[in-house]
Amino acid sequence: MKVVNSLTIKRPDDWHLHLRDGAAIASVVRHSAERFGGALIMPNLKPPITTVDQAFEYRRRILMALPEGSQFVPYMTLYLTDNTTPEEIKLAAQNSFVIAAKLYPAGATTNSDGGVTDIKKMGHVFDAMVRWGLPLCVHGEVTDPSVDIFDREAVFVERVLSPIVRDHSDLKIVLEHVTTKEGVDFVCNCDPNVAATITAHHLLMNRNALFEGGLRPHNYCLPVAKREEHRQALIEAAISGNPKFFLGTDSAPHAKGAKEAACGCAGCYTAHAGIELYAEAFDKANALDMLEGFASFYGADFYGLPRNTDTITLVRQPRQITDLHPFGDSSLVPYRAGGSVAWTLEGLGDH
Ligand code: DOR
Ligand code: ZN
Repeated sequence: MKVVNSLTIKRPDDWHLHLRDGAAIASVVRHSAERFGGALIMPNLKPPITTVDQAFEYRRRILMALPEGSQFVPYMTLYLTDNTTPEEIKLAAQNSFVIAAKLYPAGATTNSDGGVTDIKKMGHVFDAMVRWGLPLCVHGEVTDPSVDIFDREAVFVERVLSPIVRDHSDLKIVLEHVTTKEGVDFVCNCDPNVAATITAHHLLMNRNALFEGGLRPHNYCLPVAKREEHRQALIEAAISGNPKFFLGTDSAPHAKGAKEAACGCAGCYTAHAGIELYAEAFDKANALDMLEGFASFYGADFYGLPRNTDTITLVRQPRQITDLHPFGDSSLVPYRAGGSVAWTLEGLGDH
C-alpha cells in the first residue's frame, strides 16, 4: 500500500469542546481555532449555562478571547436542568447561535450537579425540542453507584437512551463521546436522527492506559476508557464512513493540580493536537482516506450547518508535545505531554 505523507482535507469542526471561562478561555481556544472552523461548546460551567441569555454572554466572552482575525465559530449549547422550560427551548431554537441542548445526568461528571435528576420528567422538554428542532446532546452514563463504572454507558443505553429514542422518535440525539461497542451498535441500529461523537483519546487508548506503570491521572476522563474490544469498535465506527459518527474531541482542560490530586478531575486536554491525534488513529487503521468525512462533513451535515470550504494540510512528521501549557493563572498537562504525536499540522506556529 502506498504510504501517504501528506493529507489535505476540508477544515474540520469539533462537535464537543470544553473552553471553561474567564482567563482560561484564551489559553485554550487558540488551539482549537488553529485547527477547527467551529466547535460545539459545552455548557458545564460553574454555574452552568442554562439560559439563552447566558449562552449569548458566554459566546461573547469566547469571541473576545479568540486570536486576532480568527474566524472560529463557537456554536453554543444549553445545559438542561429539572427546571428547563419549553419556552427556553423555543427561544434557543429561534436563536441561530444556540444549536443544541446538553443532558447531563446529575452527578455523572464534571460540574453536572445541576443536571437532570429524573429523565422521566423531561418528556415535555424533549417534546419541545422535537417541535422546535433543537438537537439533544447526551452524556450517556447512569449515575447509580451500584453499577460498575465500566458498565455505566452500556446500562445508560439500555435503561435511559433506548426509552428516550422509543418515546421521541423524531428527536435528534447525539450520544456524546461514545466509548462502548453497545453504544456503537445502538446508534447504528437507530434511524439517521441518532448519531454519536467519538473522541481521539478513546480511539487511541484503552483502559490499560490508566494504569501504565502506575496511576495516570491525565488519562482519566469520563466516560472512562474501556477494554480493547470496545476501542476496536470505536475505530471501526469512526473509519466506516457511516455519517452517524463524527468528530468531537471532548478536550477538557483542568489545572495540573486538579488532575494530580487525591481525588483528580476527569478530562483529557487534546485541543493542542485536536486533529493530529485523529490522523494518527486513522493512519494506524489504514483509513486516512476516511478522515475527511468523519472530521469535516458528517457533523456539520447532522446539525444542518455549512461545511467549511477552506482546507488544512497534515504531514507525517512527529511533533513533540510540551510538558505544560498555560491555563489562565495556572497550567495544564496536555495529552501526550513529554511525548509526541505522529502527524503535524502544516503552518503551525509557536505551540
Ligand atoms: O472527562 C470529562 N471531562 N468528561 C466529561 O463529561 C466532562 C469533562 C469536563 O468538563 O471536564
Ligand atoms: Zn465533554
